[in-house]
Amino acid sequence: MSKVTVVGAGAVGATCANVMACREVASEVVLVDIKEGLSEGKMLDMYQCSTLMDFDTKVVGVTNDYKKTANSDVVVITSGIPRKPGMTREELIGTNAKIMKGVVENVIKYSPRAIIIVVANPMDTLTYLALKVSGLPKNRVVGMGGALDSSRFKCYLAKATGANINNVDGMVIGGHGDTTMIPLVSKATVNGVPVSQFASKKKLQEAVQNTMVGGATLTKLIGTSAWYAPGAAAAMMVESILNDQKKLIPCSCYLEGEYGQSDLCIGVPAIIGRKGIEKIVKIDLTKEEEAMFAASAAAVHKTNDVLRETNAL
Ligand code: LAC
Repeated sequence: MSKVTVVGAGAVGATCANVMACREVASEVVLVDIKEGLSEGKMLDMYQCSTLMDFDTKVVGVTNDYKKTANSDVVVITSGIPRKPGMTREELIGTNAKIMKGVVENVIKYSPRAIIIVVANPMDTLTYLALKVSGLPKNRVVGMGGALDSSRFKCYLAKATGANINNVDGMVIGGHGDTTMIPLVSKATVNGVPVSQFASKKKLQEAVQNTMVGGATLTKLIGTSAWYAPGAAAAMMVESILNDQKKLIPCSCYLEGEYGQSDLCIGVPAIIGRKGIEKIVKIDLTKEEEAMFAASAAAVHKTNDVLRETNAL
């Protein structure tokens, strides 16, 4: 018996709930939103997929009633406003920090043992806020960004190399921002063979650039932030936690000296299992990647400072 709550019934939250229900990741999935009827309606619609998709996950939708979320094993927080075309994720901080604080307090009140996955933007800073506000140990608050950015990186690498998408491996570390994320070309492979054997430097650099603005490209096309891959990325992390899969996932973790950084949450490779962040994995970076990571951390710190300047922390 396992229970997952998703806070925020927007496109990302509903997609995450849908992926989890269809894959029977948990026995119960609860979707919460402040908008009257939205979660109830989406979960009723999802329930009506049960026989079509052959699942029997219990799906529950509630309006702001956190009692119904009690004793969740994992809580995914997607609530907040999404960015519009031309906006950076960082610009969302004022509104979304306020929302995050209230949500985390409610979540912890009813599910004190939960592991929290933060999806809302600016993701690294809101993960840091959720960690501080909840008072939870650092292994139980994790941000989703790197999982999503890595899946986008693999798509662009598949295009650049002409390889089968499922043969491509690659990882994005650093902040979840257009200028802060670091797609690691040096570690990317086609079934273990370095990507440099299949594509020119120029093509690989294009894949890196496209990955970095991957979210912005979609926002421009759709008119709002993306949801299929963000929702699926969060669901994949929940699955790794509940089934104790111990997948190596780049995600936003609280650092205390790892990678030369402290007192921030930022994307690094980590083993994700039943205890949440079970281990931060140290990988060798090139000198250039190390410098990029330091710059990325400085940018995330700067956004975190806004939390203090605005008394959100
Ligand atoms: C994106 C949002 C979810 O990258 O941050 O699509």
